[in-house]
Amino acid sequence: MMKIKNFQHAENARHFQAFKYIIILIKKEDEMKVIIKHSYSGKEVPKSIRFVYEKTSKTRPAWIWVENLPKDVMFLSTRINGKIEHYRVYLSTEIPLFLPTTYTREEMRRYYNKFAQIYDKEVESKNLPATKFLLNKIKLQKQSKILDLGAGSGISSIPFVEAGYTDITLLDYSSKMLETAKKKKELKNCKFLCKDIAKLKLKDKFDLIFSLFSFASKSYFDEKEMPNLWKKVVAHLKPNGIFMMLGNDFEPPKSLIKKVKGGWYEMFKGYKTQWYIGKKK
Ligand SMILES: C[S@@+](CC[C@H](N)C(=O)[O-])C[C@H]1O[C@@H](n2cnc3c(N)ncnc32)[C@H](O)[C@@H]1O
Repeated sequence: MMKIKNFQHAENARHFQAFKYIIILIKKEDEMKVIIKHSYSGKEVPKSIRFVYEKTSKTRPAWIWVENLPKDVMFLSTRINGKIEHYRVYLSTEIPLFLPTTYTREEMRRYYNKFAQIYDKEVESKNLPATKFLLNKIKLQKQSKILDLGAGSGISSIPFVEAGYTDITLLDYSSKMLETAKKKKELKNCKFLCKDIAKLKLKDKFDLIFSLFSFASKSYFDEKEMPNLWKKVVAHLKPNGIFMMLGNDFEPPKSLIKKVKGGWYEMFKGYKTQWYIGKKK
């Protein structure tokens, strides 16, 4: 059994000092085992803390779920098989689901597979009005072919169904997020594709491709890969097809899409995010 004698890794985590965080140790023996050992933010770790983590991972867990954690804890410092790994909250400090600070695309996918259990409860009240805001900016024929990129649990597709659009495909790489979407009665006539946007290659072409808080966001896509990804995505639009998004960090190159409209949307007081609408050239 691996013995851990000290907590030197806490010193390496000094740059997180501005934030409250706790230290946990993860030991891999027959199965991965996580033990809370110590508090580094001057307080004892509350005894009521309970946590679970992804046990199927061969390396570090893609998520650690901590219950009864003080709301001001934004980071976990962990030692996994002797290696220091930092975890952080994602989207909101209200959601006690941590992912590695240096997460990979594959870890984010597995993180969403867990997040799916609580996603709607945490996110719906903000994402639904954002989708309605964007939807109201366009008018298309109701039978238009529509693709929701990074559709998740379907929050971003529901307003399209309610507005009368009949041919909607939801695409996401998290099977669990899509499972949640498939259970929604509003989406019963939609199509579902479990695929990675980065490898997008579909037979169909669409009149409208849209993405809410997913495609072209820094959380999921690297700036360097965007030129290639724009080509892939735009290739799935019909001539004059519309591309629109909200919550994006990057915009498509003018050589591929002509920008029609864009601006900032206030998600809540003090937080604005970008939106964009363009037409394929
Ligand atoms: C913040 S959620 C947004 C979900 C939905 N559009 C909404 O507004 O509620 C981001 C979604 O993007 C998906 N996602 C992130 N990267 C992806 C990728 N490379 N391929 C497919 N889906 C991806 C995640 O699984 C997640 O469901």
